[in-house]
Amino acid sequence: MGNEVYDKLLKCYGCFKEKTDFKPEVALVLGSGLGDYADGIKVVSELDYHDIDGFPVSTVPGHQGKYIFGYVGDVPVVCMKGRVHYYEGYNITDVVLPVRLMKLMGAKVLFLTNAAGGINTSFQAGDFMLIKDHIANFVPSPLIGQNIDELGVRFPDMGSIYNKELQRIIKRTAAILDIPLQEGVYIQLTGPSYETPAEIRMCCTLGADAVGMSTACEAVAANHMGMKICGISCVSNMASGITANPLTHKEVQETADRVAPLFKQLVTECIKNIGHDITKA
Ligand code: HPA
Repeated sequence: MGNEVYDKLLKCYGCFKEKTDFKPEVALVLGSGLGDYADGIKVVSELDYHDIDGFPVSTVPGHQGKYIFGYVGDVPVVCMKGRVHYYEGYNITDVVLPVRLMKLMGAKVLFLTNAAGGINTSFQAGDFMLIKDHIANFVPSPLIGQNIDELGVRFPDMGSIYNKELQRIIKRTAAILDIPLQEGVYIQLTGPSYETPAEIRMCCTLGADAVGMSTACEAVAANHMGMKICGISCVSNMASGITANPLTHKEVQETADRVAPLFKQLVTECIKNIGHDITKA
């Protein structure tokens, strides 16, 4: 029996193969306000999401839509400039399709980034947080439905979804660059409204340190496919109720823009160091 989700993925892969034969090692997803990171990549080619048949295209201001292929140092990377979110109305399987496609392109490592609201009161806006684990139960699993055996097993282990060795590399890199790095648990909610103070207290009780509307579902899909995963949140604001200020998308973007140069530096050096690690393996 055919599987619609897999068929669509293979069709998108076919479009990619027609346009480039680039083989990335590392896949990078850029979150809100971090989109222009891609300007720092030695670009080999680009692929507009619109040019991939059936590919979900984002509607959020500040999220452009294309894959960028190139090199960070000498590490071949594919970078997603813009992602789609569940709140845009896509099926969760469409939300993770771009990440699954990067695995088919050849990427072994998935580096996730996002803007997030800080729940942990020791954080402040502008901090970076290494994602050590996540809570994804408030969005549907992208693995619901007939299992795609070609991608992974029905019941994947989630015991160390964020790769320990990659976490070590990121921490060491941040320390060398003298960039402070918080650590914590990321919780994904659907959005698109920001949370109420009561919801943030709930998230805190559940053990979350930062909240956002992306990332965890992508990590679930990538883990299913056996990718090595790491992630960094940019704490763009303190979450609802932690701060008395009303939250706006503008504030989220302004903070992300303000810390973008440091973030770029951190991500660049991390990818170079991860690249050395991959070639060693
Ligand atoms: N809540 C949810 N998502 C977010 C936030 C927030 O406070 N900030 C950036 N993305």
